[in-house]
Amino acid sequence: MQKSLQISKDTPESRFLQVATIDESGVPQNRTLVFRSLDADSAVLSVISDLRTPKIAELRGDPRASICWYFTRSREQFRFACSTTILVHGIDGVDLTSQWKALSAQGKKQFLWGEPKTRRVDDGPLQATVQDNSSPAPHFCQINFHVVEVDYLNLKANPQYRELHQLQDGQWSSVSVIP
Ligand SMILES: Cc1cc2nc3c(=O)[nH]c(=O)nc-3n(C[C@H](O)[C@H](O)[C@H](O)COP(=O)(O)O)c2cc1C
Repeated sequence: MQKSLQISKDTPESRFLQVATIDESGVPQNRTLVFRSLDADSAVLSVISDLRTPKIAELRGDPRASICWYFTRSREQFRFACSTTILVHGIDGVDLTSQWKALSAQGKKQFLWGEPKTRRVDDGPLQATVQDNSSPAPHFCQINFHVVEVDYLNLKANPQYRELHQLQDGQWSSVSVIP
């Protein structure tokens, strides 16, 4: 993963990953999120999001998530089975100030437009509420994806190469399989 990120570091779209969750009716829901960080030792991927978006309620109902991530340059697909935790600034000693500060002004504004997915009241431009930008917006959060299974497919190899990795009792096991 670290190698794939390094190879693709100049292509911003290589940071877009698809994350599927399960809603309260058992229906899969999927969306694109921006990869923010990787803790390779503990196999944790992080993204940032808004607590008011449906994915948060879905993950609170069922913390399992599935990630699909394709790197066009290296022609590799990673599929991750994960459990998730949601980090909220100021709760349980969590400090998301550095993640908030890393956002552009435009990125910060997305958290200040109002309730996501609610009907717009007029056709005028969205107005961000004014707040002190030095600390995270109240609905800003981080989602940590704790990877427990990896399905890796490399299309560049000839023949294609696929391997499965599984975390059990703190130990990773790996097997090479027919693609
Ligand atoms: C390229 C791209 C990147 C995105 N990055 C994020 C992100 O990092 N965090 C986020 O919450 N939503 C991001 N979104 C918006 C989500 O795809 C989604 O529309 C929004 O989070 C609401 O999702 P939900 O209704 O499933 O909760 C991104 C969308 C696109 C197209």
